[in-house]
Amino acid sequence: MNKILITGACGQIGTELAEKASELLGHDNVVITDIRKPVNTRNPFEELDVLDKNAWLSVLDKYQPDTVFHLAALLSATGEKNPELAWKLNMNSLLYVLEFAREKKIKKVFWPSSIAVFGPTTPKYNVPQHTIMEPTTVYGISKLAGERWCEWYFNKFGVDVRSLRYPGLIGWKSDPGGGTTDYAVHIFYEALKNGKYTCFLSEDTALPMMCMEDAIRATLELMQAPAANIKIRSSYNLAGISFSPKELANEIKKHLPGFIIQYQPDFRQSIADSWPASIDDSVASSHWGWKHKYDLEKLTKRMISEIRLKIS
Ligand code: SER
Repeated sequence: MNKILITGACGQIGTELAEKASELLGHDNVVITDIRKPVNTRNPFEELDVLDKNAWLSVLDKYQPDTVFHLAALLSATGEKNPELAWKLNMNSLLYVLEFAREKKIKKVFWPSSIAVFGPTTPKYNVPQHTIMEPTTVYGISKLAGERWCEWYFNKFGVDVRSLRYPGLIGWKSDPGGGTTDYAVHIFYEALKNGKYTCFLSEDTALPMMCMEDAIRATLELMQAPAANIKIRSSYNLAGISFSPKELANEIKKHLPGFIIQYQPDFRQSIADSWPASIDDSVASSHWGWKHKYDLEKLTKRMISEIRLKIS
């Protein structure tokens, strides 16, 4: 992994991945692409619609990356509102990238999967790597299908594709968009700016979550691990912490005692209800040594101090 290209690089994960990867590889070796322009960046940037195959080909030809981190996607909440686009974007663009790898235009692929691959029939707690997967969202269906395609391309053509089932991701550097777990970021901004927050999930809805710093480290560790260690070519379970809005609010109150939370569940509640509360990632730990660092206490403390600085 010497020269990488990131799609969806202006999104929540892309922004932070580009920053961290640039520290490792140098800015010139981290090409960022998106359909919107970055606010400011030191990385080479190309406007790329990942559904435009010719545009892909010219960007690959111009920069010759060895690895693609294909992050462009529609998330769970947006996906339910625009199922056709979610399916087309999430699926067709992945198939392009896997084909580019098969044709040896690139050597390695990272593609994000999600806890959304699980559904109401999946065990609720400590979901094992191999389990029942009957997702009920378009996003989840596209991620599960994508996982099967990744494994198929590996088995059939030896494509070095690697993937993680991200939980809800929480960071202070970039904003989430269109997800069901987004409340866990918005809550910090509202707590600090207005002292109150109305949550779109009910108080006891526990979901798997992770600090963005851990998620980026997991992504880069997975991609740097020797190929022989990567024995799962669909996608690895990845776990950090698990908490409900009420538990998060209580942790925030330790720092901001006057903070008030109210609950007004909307259509995202049923999406959250279909997902597990916690994940078992022991397979990732044993194959490539994964271990998370942030617990709820550490995450809350860091989010509050970083966001306070950012908005002051
Ligand atoms: N954070 C994502 C979402 O809520 C899950 O992968 O859609």
